[in-house]
Amino acid sequence: MLSPEERKEIEAELAHYPRKAAVSIDAMRIVQKHRGWVSDENIRDIAEFLDVSPDELDGVATFYNLIYRKPVGRHVILVCNSVSCWILGYERLRQRLSQHLGIQLGDTTADGRFTLLPIVCLGACDHAPVLMVDGDLHRDLAPESVERILENYR
Ligand code: FES
Repeated sequence: MLSPEERKEIEAELAHYPRKAAVSIDAMRIVQKHRGWVSDENIRDIAEFLDVSPDELDGVATFYNLIYRKPVGRHVILVCNSVSCWILGYERLRQRLSQHLGIQLGDTTADGRFTLLPIVCLGACDHAPVLMVDGDLHRDLAPESVERILENYR
């Protein structure tokens, strides 16, 4: 069931659009902000609230890769694997991250501190390779900078 806060925030978004379905992503982001991720039950509740089908909403969630459909760690690391980053050192960066964290892409550390996910272009191709942690963009990365960056996220 959606919380009163979630309903209120979604309703505030609805005021800006003629169709309820138009706030699908915003509604899922609101729920994710409160709960950390969006479960199947959340999808059903949001779908009911927006008068769309759960399958339709799930399709949007699948397409939009910043909606987490399973639990994530306290901090989410998104590592760009698109062309510029790929050419300029993505693989070495990913290997360093996996080695340092002891996990592979898609996994969460045992202490629940970090989840490591791939992502398509983060729009900073001229500063490749890049990664993002909790919305903070880190650019022009050498693999050796991974430890220093992650120290800032407890
Ligand atoms: S390719 Fe990585 S930011 Fe664009």
